[in-house]
Amino acid sequence: MLVVHSKEELAEQLVEWRGHDEHVALVPTMGNLHKGHLSLVRLAREHAERVVVSVFVNPTQFGEGEDYESYPRTLERDKRLLRKTPADLVFAPGVETMYPSGLEMATTVSVPGLTENFCGASRPGHFDGVTTVVARLFAMVRPDVAVFGQKDYQQQLVIRHMVDDLNLPVAVITGETVREDDGLAMSSRNAYLTDDERAVAPQLHETLATIGGELQNGRRNFEDLEEEAVSRLASAGFDVDYFAIRRAQNLESPDRDCDDLVLLAAARLGKARLIDNIVVTI
Ligand code: PAJ
Repeated sequence: MLVVHSKEELAEQLVEWRGHDEHVALVPTMGNLHKGHLSLVRLAREHAERVVVSVFVNPTQFGEGEDYESYPRTLERDKRLLRKTPADLVFAPGVETMYPSGLEMATTVSVPGLTENFCGASRPGHFDGVTTVVARLFAMVRPDVAVFGQKDYQQQLVIRHMVDDLNLPVAVITGETVREDDGLAMSSRNAYLTDDERAVAPQLHETLATIGGELQNGRRNFEDLEEEAVSRLASAGFDVDYFAIRRAQNLESPDRDCDDLVLLAAARLGKARLIDNIVVTI
């Protein structure tokens, strides 16, 4: 497995693979890898002969007061895990490689609409940072396929929209959320939970599943269900950011005969902001 930090070294390897007509899949990450990330790497392998994993803690997607400085940077461990998975190449650029004009002068890619609510509302500018860095990674790697996790449901929709709207020649694939045995979605930020908070954390997924069950049992009073979920989470000790039942396709409000729904939730437990979602077909 090759590990490169510059776009020149990356380009050199890509030229060689393309010379052999090999397809390239990209899995963008911020590192501190867990089984969720590694499942995306394995999924990428099913769609291309070569798998590139980028590891870059992207400053432009963190808001003021968020955890950019303290975000865990564990490249040596990440490389070990990726060698075993395996990946073919790790691209671990520095900030100056991803943003050669500096952060102030960076060209920005921004998707309106889809980014206004949910994580976009609670983290202003976050999705602009995500689309900006993903567009840059796409330009550098020019992948045939790019893989994202369902865990960040709104993120993968925003990226799909960017790809469609800009006609970017990349197929976006979404991989399922990988969970701990008790249902908690794996996340680098779970490490911020104290033992007590960790014991409460699975209730986020439990609540999603319960409300999903209610929908499958025929309940359609979406707002009541959202309120039930919020009060359930609040009494468990979560500081709820949002709990929303939306159309899976575009996050718009559903009507009673809508088939594909997504239940989206974000809530804080102490220092950790947890997000999760489930898709329900009714
Ligand atoms: P990061 O949080 O490192 O996640 C990288 C990818 O792994 C994302 O597509 C995310 O949805 C996916 N992922 C995270 N937890 C997962 C889980 N439990 N199961 C399955 N997939 C999971 O998301 C980002 O980085 C950044 O925003 C990025 C896209 C790299 C742009 O900087």
